[in-house]
This record gives sequence, C-alpha cells and structure tokens, in this order.
Amino acid sequence: MRVLSGIQPTGRFHWGNYFGAIRQYIDLQTEDEAYYFIANLHALTTVRDAELLRQHTLDAALDLLALGLDPERATLFVQSDVPEVSELCWLLMTGAPLGLLERCHAFKEKKAKGLTADAGLFTYPVLMAADILAYHAEVVPVGEDQIQHIEVCRDLARSFNHEFGETFVLPQAKVMTAAARVPGTDGEKMSKSYNNTLEIFADPKAQRKQIMRIVTDSRPMEDSKDPESDHLFQLFALLAPAEAREEMAGLYRRGGFGYGQVKTALADAAEQYFAEPRARRLEWAAQPKRVREILADGASTARDKASTVLHAAQRACGLRVYR
Ligand code: ADP
Ligand code: TRP
Repeated sequence: MRVLSGIQPTGRFHWGNYFGAIRQYIDLQTEDEAYYFIANLHALTTVRDAELLRQHTLDAALDLLALGLDPERATLFVQSDVPEVSELCWLLMTGAPLGLLERCHAFKEKKAKGLTADAGLFTYPVLMAADILAYHAEVVPVGEDQIQHIEVCRDLARSFNHEFGETFVLPQAKVMTAAARVPGTDGEKMSKSYNNTLEIFADPKAQRKQIMRIVTDSRPMEDSKDPESDHLFQLFALLAPAEAREEMAGLYRRGGFGYGQVKTALADAAEQYFAEPRARRLEWAAQPKRVREILADGASTARDKASTVLHAAQRACGLRVYR
C-alpha cells in the first residue's frame, strides 16, 4: 500500500495536527511505501514573508522527525523540491471544472467573508490532487476537513483517466475517527486560524497556564457529567493512558470534582506524552546538516517517482511528441 500526505508549514504544529494527521503518518510509515512532504507551495497562499516561510519549513521538518517520522522508512521532502508536481498540476488544471473548485471550502469560506481570494487559493485543491496523483498514492491520512479535497482529487483523476486512458490511481482518504476533530481551548475545532491551539512543542510551563484557561461550563461540581461530550475530557482522553482515562470518565459520571483538577491532570499528561519527542527535537535541531541531507535524499526519491508518473500523463494526453 502506498501512503502519502502533506502538511502546510504555516506555524507551529498543534495537538489537532498531531492526533488528526501526524500520528497516522508515523503509524503508516511501516507500509511498503510512505511519502510525507512539507507543503510549502500551499503555504505560500497564506505566508507572505520569505524568512518566516523558510523558518516554518525547517521547524516542520524538525517537528516531524522528533515525533517519530523515520527517514529510513518514509520519504520526507519539501513540496517545492519536486517541480514535476507543478507541471502535473497544469495538466489537471485544464480539466478542472470551475464549479467544482467554487464549492471547495477554503475558497468558499474566504469569499463568504467578503475577502478577495487569489488564483492560488482557488486552484489549491488541484495542486493537492497533483501532489497525490504524482506518486500513485493509494491512501492519504488526513483530518476530516481534507476529505473534500481528496474527493476533488478522485474526480480529477477519474475524468483524466476517462478522457486519456488509465493513467492515475484513485486515492482513499484515511481519517482517524477518534481524533477527526480535536477541540481547541475554546471548545471549537482546534485550528491556527481560531487562535485556540495547544502546540506540541510549547514550553511546558506556558502550556500549563494555557490549559488552566481552557473554557469550561459553569455546572455545579457535584453534578454528574457526560465525559464524551466535554472537550476537556476529549483532550485528556487523547493523551492519557487507558487506565487514567477510565478513572477520569468515572469521576465525570459520579460528579463531585472540579474542572481545575481535570486541567491539572491534562497538563501532567501532556508534559509526559510529549517529553520524549521534546528531547528528540533538541537532538535533531543540533544536526542541521543531517536534516538537510534527509530532505535532499527525500526529494530525489520523490522526483524519480513523480517524473515517471508525469511522463506517462504527458504521453497520455498528447504532450511529449517524440518520447
Ligand atoms: P490548521 O487548521 O491549524 O491550519 P491545517 O489545516 O494545516 O491546520 O491541518 C493540517 C492537518 O492536520 C490536516 O490533515 C488537518 O485535517 C489536520 N487537523 C488540523 N486541525 C485538526 C483538528 N482540530 N482535529 C483533527 N485534525 C486536524
Ligand atoms: N491541504 C492540506 C492541508 O491543508 C495539505 C496538503 C497539501 C496535503 N497537499 C496534500 C494533504 C496532499 C494530503 C495530500 O492540511
């Protein structure tokens, strides 16, 4: 099974990114082929500061390595290091119906807010389709919000195959149902755009303070509460060992506890959960040359694969007259 996913370097990764996407990358890297990339071309639609984009890209590489992405097993690279994908994007663009792209949520939401969108944001799902199709990826681990984009990818691949003959493999999205929508500190979906994130590599002291400020309801302490519908419990459940989770669920059902107690337990669990990656991140940060080599090797492997697929697609649609 061939697995692929990309993540945008638009800021420091948060728990939603980890439990919704990155953890699956790590779990799936033992499959026969796994490709993971830092989607800097996509990030360019929002990050318009060169130094910041470079910094976020390197941070993303360090974060992924620290979290357990193993370059011996998976191919890790930076999206813009594989120019074949941008060429393939044009081929797909010529067959992408405007109506299909108008329905995509990133563009639709921006337009609904009365903001002016650019062509990059509008055609963003086509580039994402090229990312996936260029490697004949079969499985794409992502969070719930990306399912629509995988559907667009399948539509574009299906219509190209129909017009020009079997060229692309149709991918499947793989969503972790237990963490499809990790809540943020305000109970809404955790997202950089909502300013409600808990970062994976935050300073533990600062993060503890942030956790203490998580919004909770004002029901009396002694009331029995349903753990599954409480965002504080949902966060705790992601991080805590099974036994502690069961114990906490029992406490919720019995009542007679304070949210402050849950917050302290959550901060402790988070500190423990990410302690090893935090130590590994320091080790990776001390080896910039090795990280550069990993990304260069990854790009070279990815280019080999992507150029084979690009050439086949070019031949299928009548480009490449002599080859
Ligand atoms: P953000 O919303 O913070 O900008 P991204 O859109 O860059 O995050 O998401 C990167 C990956 O993490 C995607 O696969 C996305 O589906 C997943 N993801 C982001 N936020 C969450 C969340 N709150 N719950 C589950 N998965 C998430
Ligand atoms: N659009 C994805 C996101 O915002 C990132 C991405 C780009 C991606 N290309 C991809 C994800 C290809 C999976 C496959 O999270």
